[in-house]
Amino acid sequence: MSAHLRETIADLEAGGEVTRDGLARLLCADESTAQALYSAADRVRKRWAGEEVHLRALLEFSNHCRRNCRYCGLRGDHEALSRYRMRPDEIVRAAVEAGELGYRTVVLQSGEDTWWTSEMLAEVVRQIKSQTPVAVTLSIGERSEEEYRALREAGADRFLLRIETSSPTLYQELHPDSDWSERRARLEVLRRLGYQVGSGVMIGLPGQSPEMLADDLLFLRDLNLDMIGVGPFIPHPNTPLAGEQGGTLQLALRFLACLRLLCPQALIPATTALAALDPDGWERGLCAGADVLMPNLTPSEYKEKYALYPGKVWNDLDATAFRRQVGTIVERVGRRVSSGYGHTRLSAAQCAAPNLTTTSAS
Ligand code: 5AD
Ligand code: SF4
Repeated sequence: MSAHLRETIADLEAGGEVTRDGLARLLCADESTAQALYSAADRVRKRWAGEEVHLRALLEFSNHCRRNCRYCGLRGDHEALSRYRMRPDEIVRAAVEAGELGYRTVVLQSGEDTWWTSEMLAEVVRQIKSQTPVAVTLSIGERSEEEYRALREAGADRFLLRIETSSPTLYQELHPDSDWSERRARLEVLRRLGYQVGSGVMIGLPGQSPEMLADDLLFLRDLNLDMIGVGPFIPHPNTPLAGEQGGTLQLALRFLACLRLLCPQALIPATTALAALDPDGWERGLCAGADVLMPNLTPSEYKEKYALYPGKVWNDLDATAFRRQVGTIVERVGRRVSSGYGHTRLSAAQCAAPNLTTTSAS
């Protein structure tokens, strides 16, 4: 490992400044540098986030989508995909079961499915909150401010909306029917409405250089996010990006570790996409800076149809078996499952004066 890179890691660990070039070099560095990077991220995670791993029960309640993101298996033009919507009572029942299994957060995720009006979704949120003591996170894509407000008033606590890339140009290439600036503006709206806000990017997209990934890291840092979810891009065979390379586990882990060093307080999951590339992906993510896991509690008849990318693991596990599996993973890395909500670690002051309003795209 070069002395220069060792210094960059030490600076990052001490909370010092880092350049775009320094980050780009870390993302491409050799294996021994990567090990030093993971260890530094693990120490920072321990200092700021502690030993508890927060679990979020994921419910993929609809795979209908009006968008055509070029990388995604749920894109509207993917006609061979069999589509489903869970019924409101099924969603509430699954959320209550998650609460009974000890989960303190339920994530309601779907494609951009306008069949679900905000009133219908708000009623589901209200039902869940009245029947089980969980925090509710929404991951339903772009909606109007009024809709986001109605859902917040119904009791939704958090919202995930990935920016996917900090490059407006690359974003436009990948998203024929949406706009980077509008998406970014929504993050501000969500914050203003009092949601805990999560965003993130994909790693290894076609045309994404190490320098662009370094920009992504600095961009995510400057957003002051409560939660940051990142994962490798995995080509889906029935999409326009079928023939592309995709991101590697190595690159994704390096990115994750840099993210922890840059955003010591953020809640950062070892994502499902990491596990899709490597059966030990969750353990490796937890040892490179992650402090959150998102077990999939979608009923098994739907799970397989929610195929953003191929290789999704543990589709056969039911809610109880998954809870056991996750306990084993957390124990294996010497940590413990949190019994708390795992709310944001950012202070109200940080949230009230977010850089969200000041960061520029470049
Ligand atoms: N590979 C990896 N991640 C993907 N996502 C969608 N399609 C893919 C893919 N092919 C991610 C996007 C989206 C999230 C729900 O899933 O980042 O925001
Ligand atoms: Fe739809 Fe989200 Fe997939 Fe885009 S990434 S096609 S919005 S489900």
